[in-house]
Amino acid sequence: MIPKSFIQDLLNRLDIVDVIERYVPLKKAGANYVACCPFHNEKSPSFTVSQSKQFYHCFGCGAHGTAIGFVMEHGGLGFVDAVEELARGIGVTVPRETPAPGQAQHKVAPDLYEVMQTATRYYHDQLKQSPRAIEYLKRRGLSGEIAARFGIGYAPEGWQNLETVFPNYQDAALLETGLVIENDEGKRYDRFRDRIMFPIVNVRGQVIGFGGRVLDKGEPKYLNSPETPLFEKGRELYGLYQAQKAIRAEKMALVVEGYMDVVALAQLGVEYAVATLGTATTPYHVQKLLRLTDKVVFCFDGDAAGQRAAWRALENALPHLQDGKQLRFLFLPTEHDPDSYIREHGKEAFEYLLGGEALPLSGYLLRELSAQVDLRTQEGRSALLERAKPLLTAISAPSTALLLRKEVAALAGITQAELEGLYAIKPVGAPAHRVPQKSPRRGFPGLRALLRCLLARPELARELPVEVGEEGSDATTVAALAEYLREQNFAASTAAIIQQFQGTPHEAALASAEADIMQWGADFDVVAEFHGILAKLREEQRKQQLQDLHIKAGGSVQGLNEQERERYRQLQQRS
Ligand code: CTP
Ligand code: MN
Repeated sequence: MIPKSFIQDLLNRLDIVDVIERYVPLKKAGANYVACCPFHNEKSPSFTVSQSKQFYHCFGCGAHGTAIGFVMEHGGLGFVDAVEELARGIGVTVPRETPAPGQAQHKVAPDLYEVMQTATRYYHDQLKQSPRAIEYLKRRGLSGEIAARFGIGYAPEGWQNLETVFPNYQDAALLETGLVIENDEGKRYDRFRDRIMFPIVNVRGQVIGFGGRVLDKGEPKYLNSPETPLFEKGRELYGLYQAQKAIRAEKMALVVEGYMDVVALAQLGVEYAVATLGTATTPYHVQKLLRLTDKVVFCFDGDAAGQRAAWRALENALPHLQDGKQLRFLFLPTEHDPDSYIREHGKEAFEYLLGGEALPLSGYLLRELSAQVDLRTQEGRSALLERAKPLLTAISAPSTALLLRKEVAALAGITQAELEGLYAIKPVGAPAHRVPQKSPRRGFPGLRALLRCLLARPELARELPVEVGEEGSDATTVAALAEYLREQNFAASTAAIIQQFQGTPHEAALASAEADIMQWGADFDVVAEFHGILAKLREEQRKQQLQDLHIKAGGSVQGLNEQERERYRQLQQRS
């Protein structure tokens, strides 16, 4: 473990501008630095770096983070590697913390990532001891090397095996990570038993979930970790951590359905494949991949389920299409999945298909639309227009939208203008209407505003009342942030906070606060804004308490006890 305090020191000693300049030339613009974003394709710069606050934020694609985050994303490195590289750059060595046996760990809330790491190591060790599991993997053609690269393991038979590595089997963290299940009587048992284990790793190299496959026949064939605080299926892609480098190098990403497909492809040299995790391809998946590369190919199984998966991927991709980025669809012969295909025909044949047979999104869309209807009839053409409507209206990329509208209109025997009139959509090709510049939303009351003040000036958290009140995600983020800052004696920097909450459920709320901070002018008075919000917050709380007492009193102070009457008077006086 790298001590947290070292991460903070490192972030304090680095200058994010120097770090990013090594990869991307930055230009000064007002208080910040800007560049064309290295994580997506753009012509005018929306990638912004704050030197004073030490973080970056792209207003185009939403990429954001600290110097550490940048090196991870840009270099495709894991957290530890990124920290080491940055430390080397300024000539310091990274200290390691080994908690003394039986000490420390119990005091702090157990780190869920560490729990997953321990389980991964256990499953990995168990694989070595199970000739049956090794035999299974061999039969599937996996080399030892590739099994190691993907951290594949084995969960042995038995109900409480994890007890050997988690002496406190009742630890809440085991439930929270989904490693154990608790039945109605409160009895616990291991979720994964007698299964080949595929660790699911986030882009930072941390294990966040598992997929477990039965060795022989049995249901379900794959059992996955449930959604947990670490693991959100719609946001993660299996194999992305291992594939990142190859995706950048090959300038393409391949999306497949299964764990085994990713592993087999990688073993045979197609290292740029990732898999969705037993879910449809989500818009988030598409965005994530398009940030890494300009070309994404979906290659699903040749069966009916694969066809449906491909169509879902298309639907979810439409809103995120960008001109200049390509999405393609490869359909394998019905009896094949990528695993079986590449094992039977080899890498060259597979990549040949990929290069020659993959349909562009537009071709696939038009093929499917016209296959469902009889274009020789008026009813058929009308049905085509009906079916195409939600698809065409979802596309905002101008050239793609224009070309597809023309083609659909032509198929239906009408003009583009008629189609746009019919759908009641704005014509494309006409002069674009200007997106108004977002003005910095100053003085916006409430928790979101509080959050950005705290992120910009963490020491202000000292003045925060213990109870911020209110429910909702901003409130929980403010509470989590306040708790972290108290732990740190209010000495953490903005960058340390961003780093601390990277990959947690609070990341999104903080990212939006980062974007706001980036737009503050040099003369923006954070302290005044903070005090203004606090005053409003106190006033709201006062009104609330007064109202509560009112209700309790039922119209007359006589209904209150002495203490409550005093409180009532005080609250009234403050108005
Ligand atoms: N899947 C799942 N739960 C199931 C079946 C499938 O989550 N009960 C997901 C898994 O991610 C799996 C993918 O869907 O990898 C594809 O399933 P399938 O085509 O049935 O399996 P394969 O990947 O072909 O796996 P194998 O070759 O091991 O049979
Ligand atoms: Mn398969």
